[in-house]
Amino acid sequence: MEVLEQIVTQNKVVIGDSLAILKELESETIDLIITSPPYFQQRDYGNGNLGVGNETTENAYLDNVLAIFFECVRVIKSTGTIVFNLGDKYINGALSLLPYKFAIKAIEDKQVFLINQITWSKLNPTPRQDKRKLIQATEPFFIFAKSKNYHFDLENYLKHLDDQNKSNKNKPTEKLGKQYFELIAKSNLTDEQKENARKSLQEAILLVMNGEIDSFRMKIKGIHKEAYGGMEGGRNNQIRFNGFTIIKLLGNKLKKDLIESPVEITKDNAHPAVYPLYIVQELIKLLSKEDDLVLDPFCGSGTTCLAAKNLKRNYIGIEINPDYVNLANQRLKQTDFTQELFV
Ligand SMILES: C[S@@+](CC[C@H](N)C(=O)[O-])C[C@H]1O[C@@H](n2cnc3c(N)ncnc32)[C@H](O)[C@@H]1O
Repeated sequence: MEVLEQIVTQNKVVIGDSLAILKELESETIDLIITSPPYFQQRDYGNGNLGVGNETTENAYLDNVLAIFFECVRVIKSTGTIVFNLGDKYINGALSLLPYKFAIKAIEDKQVFLINQITWSKLNPTPRQDKRKLIQATEPFFIFAKSKNYHFDLENYLKHLDDQNKSNKNKPTEKLGKQYFELIAKSNLTDEQKENARKSLQEAILLVMNGEIDSFRMKIKGIHKEAYGGMEGGRNNQIRFNGFTIIKLLGNKLKKDLIESPVEITKDNAHPAVYPLYIVQELIKLLSKEDDLVLDPFCGSGTTCLAAKNLKRNYIGIEINPDYVNLANQRLKQTDFTQELFV
């Protein structure tokens, strides 16, 4: 009963075992779940048998994480998404691929499908002694959806990088495209083709000036090499029939399944495994809107809840260890400190 009373209040970190608490939640009520379960046999969070992570076998660990994952699937709305971040582990000197074993089982019965696997590239990975292995500097963030109708706000994801890119860029000068105008003039294109080439070039220059594309390349028949080594295709057909083609380059607007961020330095945070506020923040912007409800079933020091609060989303955190609940509550008292990394 106490548990129920805790849950009905949004914007709270609830103390308890997440499987038990998730079971109390109504189906299809949560917009977004972002979490990082304890990794297999990596750390002792002091939670005894109830805590995930200290199982004696990989299979027992996967069963426990998946039981919680499938409760997440039940409580997420049909427009919602679930993000699980898991780290891998060397067992007897061999990488176990545990995150992928989890992901394969998670999609097996087709209740959810994988939209993306974002790779977190760590800018300050932990150095290791083993001279016969490279340093592990990446971790996956799996994004699962329940239906094709999932919320996805690409425009707002890593928007500061677009803005920075725009303001840093040299302002297009009158030189832009000049060389191509000259090449069109001295080409063997027909008068009509030359006229069309100049018009398309002018349009591409305007797109750069308006910041809609980063830059462009032009290929003119008889002057430039054909695209793709001359293989049949749309570009080469354009060159052959129109006498030219223009390739528009989107620059950073191409949003990739890769995000760079340092590992959080835990100087002011007593939790031993804090994930980056920056990444969580960007995922919240991508996968939810203001006033949505974001849940983290392994809340730890409250990073997900903090990011949700800063971005005007509602949140529920679940954490089994009372010390970490206190820590999360302390962090949540702080005022807004959203992070922008220009990496
Ligand atoms: C990897 S940490 C999460 C850290 C968090 N992302 C942060 O940035 O602070 C995993 C957390 O899950 C908690 N935990 C382990 N088993 C749990 C369970 N059955 N129910 C709720 N929390 C659990 C641990 O105490 C630990 O704080």
